[in-house]
Amino acid sequence: MNADLVVVGGGVIGLSCAWRAQRQGMQVLVLEARGPGEGTSRRAAGMLLPDVEGEHDADERAFGRRSYELYPAFAQEVEAASDLPTGYRGCRCYLVAHVPERAEALRRMEWGEFLLPAALKAQLPGIGQSAGARLGDAAQVEPRQLIAALAAALRKGGAAIETGLAVESVQAGPQGVEGLRMADGSLRQGRRYLFATGAWSGTLPYLQGRGVVTEPVRGEIVTLEDTGDEPLQDIIFGQGIYLAPKGGRRVYLGATEERAGFDERPTAEGCLNLLAGLKGLYPAALRFEVRETWAGLRPFRAGGPMIARIDGNAVVAAGHHRNGILLAPATAERALGLLGEIG
Ligand code: GLY
Repeated sequence: MNADLVVVGGGVIGLSCAWRAQRQGMQVLVLEARGPGEGTSRRAAGMLLPDVEGEHDADERAFGRRSYELYPAFAQEVEAASDLPTGYRGCRCYLVAHVPERAEALRRMEWGEFLLPAALKAQLPGIGQSAGARLGDAAQVEPRQLIAALAAALRKGGAAIETGLAVESVQAGPQGVEGLRMADGSLRQGRRYLFATGAWSGTLPYLQGRGVVTEPVRGEIVTLEDTGDEPLQDIIFGQGIYLAPKGGRRVYLGATEERAGFDERPTAEGCLNLLAGLKGLYPAALRFEVRETWAGLRPFRAGGPMIARIDGNAVVAAGHHRNGILLAPATAERALGLLGEIG
């Protein structure tokens, strides 16, 4: 295959960029060492909260808001092209304060409505005695559905997604990338390259040499089944813990933040901390059924995501840490702009 664009990494960032490129008429090859989204994206909670997570300097906030605004059309186009759901839906998000200092911070927050404990309880009967705030903007996708839909849309459009084989090294010359050496010794080549290598970016010396260094930060999730009469619909976000109901009765309780290298195993301690935190977050959920637990590796990068041209014919989009799902449409928009400059 003589690809116009070779995308290294089949997570939400790589697939979203590949999808946009395909919509612009490019012949795309995606290389994914495992299965689509298996590294991080399929283990994410899928909350779209431009005002809650991240570093929140002005640029990053504007970027998150841009992506949030792109989402409805992005999800709708991917669903139409794949004939599969993405789980996109608008919802409310309640921020819950456990301590007076946090309540005071929520009272001063510009982008939500502050609620005293009685007012919060009137809207969320299962909550304890906490004050909180209701955010204006919140939505969700189901990451497993989104990944499946993106992969299906790409394949239907003629893209190749090669799975199960890692890129071992990058061959580069004065003009840029000349080829990708795969773990079995074979070579992949294309006109342009996009590295969406997430938490694994630092494992390729080529990327390291261009300042693309990410660190894996493990996040564990416990999945619950809401057994109540009126299943929870809205996100509840405390400090370092959240409940994300995914439609129907499935609820994700997340997520730990641990530096454990590339160890993706959930631990008893992680589950213990999440379940202990549930008591202060939303006591009604203590009666939910426990279903599953898993962990994923967030791609942390000091300074935030890097979306940049790194060579004559290569762009990187990596380091989205807690916000890869949210930032995928805006990242694809920016990355395609950079790839367009390559011509
Ligand atoms: N964005 C949710 C998390 O990183 O846990």
